Amino acid sequence: MKSNAIPKHVAIIMDGNGRWAEKRSLPRSVGHIAGVKNIDIITDYLFNLGVNTLTLFAFSTENWNRPINEVDGLLLLFKNYLIEKVPDLIKKNIGFNVFGDISFFDEETQSLIQQYSLVNSDKCLNICFNYGGRSEIIRAINSFVDKSCVSEAELRSALYTKNLPDPDVLIRTGGEHRISNFLLFQIAYSEIYFIDTLWPDFSTDELQNILNDYAITDRRFGKI
Ligand code: IPE
Ligand code: IPE
Ligand code: MG
Repeated sequence: MKSNAIPKHVAIIMDGNGRWAEKRSLPRSVGHIAGVKNIDIITDYLFNLGVNTLTLFAFSTENWNRPINEVDGLLLLFKNYLIEKVPDLIKKNIGFNVFGDISFFDEETQSLIQQYSLVNSDKCLNICFNYGGRSEIIRAINSFVDKSCVSEAELRSALYTKNLPDPDVLIRTGGEHRISNFLLFQIAYSEIYFIDTLWPDFSTDELQNILNDYAITDRRFGKI
């Protein structure tokens, strides 16, 4: 039996907000608000446990194809999160990064994000917003146009995750068994958990069950 103890890096595809609201005959936006509340609970739990890096998928490059009012609501929730919640994280000495193309945000928001990303800490929360795994890889490749050969280490250094370790655990809530363009390069050896619970209902008990299972998983990395 192996003991992986606490994962260093946990990544989560937070899916199911819309269905959570629809089940209650509420607008999908209410589901997104409930989803943001759960971010605080799950984030606190994981950092208190000793996880160093947490990467959350909040808005994909494909999510622009949703109705404009839903997209606008998500953009506003994200901006509010940056203004109202991130300063508390920084106070707790947790670093904060946004992975994705942030150039569509207003200048004030962009400079806020850049300011946050200067915080140097061994713990960090990464929010993937306007993020796609394919665009991340294409962006990295384009940064090497003058090179004829690129090493794995060089490619890694051009990804948003840079020097962070790969996720040990990837969790997707909401019942779908797919990756939906998340961290395509980095999850090569992640332990993947697909959970039926919709994100706003995903509890620390369920999270702890996953971590207990992870702790006894035999991670072979191709060896025997
Ligand atoms: C995840 O919840 C949040 C985003 C993708 C923005 P969804 O909004 O995808 O919720 P469902 O999958 O429709 O229930
Ligand atoms: C994945 O959820 C993206 C996020 C959680 C941000 P989606 O709801 O967009 O994924 P699909 O459409 O079911 O693949
Ligand atoms: Mg979804």
